[in-house]
Amino acid sequence: MSSSSNPAGKLWGGRFAESTSALVEKFSESVSFDARLYRQDIRGSQAHARMLAKVGVLSEADARAIVDGLDAILADIEAGRFEWSEQLEDVHMNIEARLTERIGDAGKRLHTGRSRNDQVATDMRLYVRDVIDGLVPLIDRIADALLDLAEREADTVMPGFTHLQIAQPVTFGHHMLAWREQMLRDKSRLLDCRRRLNLLPLGAAALAGTVYPIDRHFVAEQLGFDGVTENSLDTVSDRDYAIEFCAAASLILVHLSRWSEELILWATPMFGFVDLPDRFCTGSSIMPQKKNPDVPELVRGKTGRVIGNLNALLVLMKGQPLAYNRDNQEDKPPLFDSVDTVTICLQVYAEMIPHIVVRRDNCRCAAARGFSTATDLADYLVKKGLPFRDAHHAVGSAVGYAAQKNRDLAELSLDELRRFSPLIEADVYARITLEGSLAARNHYGATSPEQVRAAIARARSAR
Ligand code: ARG
Repeated sequence: MSSSSNPAGKLWGGRFAESTSALVEKFSESVSFDARLYRQDIRGSQAHARMLAKVGVLSEADARAIVDGLDAILADIEAGRFEWSEQLEDVHMNIEARLTERIGDAGKRLHTGRSRNDQVATDMRLYVRDVIDGLVPLIDRIADALLDLAEREADTVMPGFTHLQIAQPVTFGHHMLAWREQMLRDKSRLLDCRRRLNLLPLGAAALAGTVYPIDRHFVAEQLGFDGVTENSLDTVSDRDYAIEFCAAASLILVHLSRWSEELILWATPMFGFVDLPDRFCTGSSIMPQKKNPDVPELVRGKTGRVIGNLNALLVLMKGQPLAYNRDNQEDKPPLFDSVDTVTICLQVYAEMIPHIVVRRDNCRCAAARGFSTATDLADYLVKKGLPFRDAHHAVGSAVGYAAQKNRDLAELSLDELRRFSPLIEADVYARITLEGSLAARNHYGATSPEQVRAAIARARSAR
């Protein structure tokens, strides 16, 4: 390009009579953040070039030069030898300009039958797909670690909470399996997002399709897409998959944040249910005794950003008419931030979970202190023929009495217990101990050690 015919000095500069203002260049560039799409951009361009040769729009020699030239550029980028230029605006034009520098006219033919609008849509779908394929094994690692921890603590009694008040005894293993269920739903949400996004955008071109005899299905197959998108206008404007990903990421973080909240509570001396390994904690610069649960706190804190990113994308899209608008360039910083944040949060949890030390005695003591078997006493009376409401009332009075005496229900003598109902006999103790209470909840999905072991066995055989 001679500068007399292209004072803007841009790949798109033919019609421009003056160069872009430096401020506008700085304002509108995206290469500072979209350079991370280089792998997907190169893969997409190589598939496009091969297709153009297959349908006779490009010569085989040009297609080969393009594919090899892009391989060389990929190697340069990975070796840190590629100089990104903000004047070239985005990842697409940086790579295309370098390709033309390397291979001459063949490079200028690459963009035949394509627009940056379908190009960026392709890059983005490939990118989100790659990200999901990286996150799923990480989620599996966490799910497996929870299974191991659940197995170790299948008999460990702890208080189960509602309203954060001690409710009924549960096993620590059961609690870990509850966390695991959340992760498994998160995984299926990611895979669901992957399934819907896995269609090829290329061919939509700017918005209306292209005049060349392209073979979209050939490109789709090369790039591992399950098919091609249906409508060119929708294709260049659609960012649903980025929103879906950010929604799935938000839910992952919401789950990790809830775990974090529990771990933070459990690690305080008032609970003392768990010890987090030193290497996941930090100290205080002033208080020598402190061991702070910074990792779960940071996960909880980062959750806000990831939820914010989802909101940013939803608001980004809500006012956009069809088809492509430059607004869409703003999809990247929130998406990338959510990708980075969810990745590192899952990584730290995958590292930390196997090393959580459970303080079984403290868990047990807490369950024994909170009248957590009161429901069991009521159920015992029901079995002896008392209507549930009356049983509830009788046990309530017994709890009030025991609280005054600072003893648990199972620590009251038979005479004391019988003051609240003559139906109570010596066999009551088997029911109102922590172990008795747990063992009695012995059906599919419940907390007895036997059921927790059965759930673990099911999970292991399903893998
Ligand atoms: N950097 C742009 C983006 O991310 C690429 C597409 C630009 N298309 C255009 N017609 N200006 O959306």
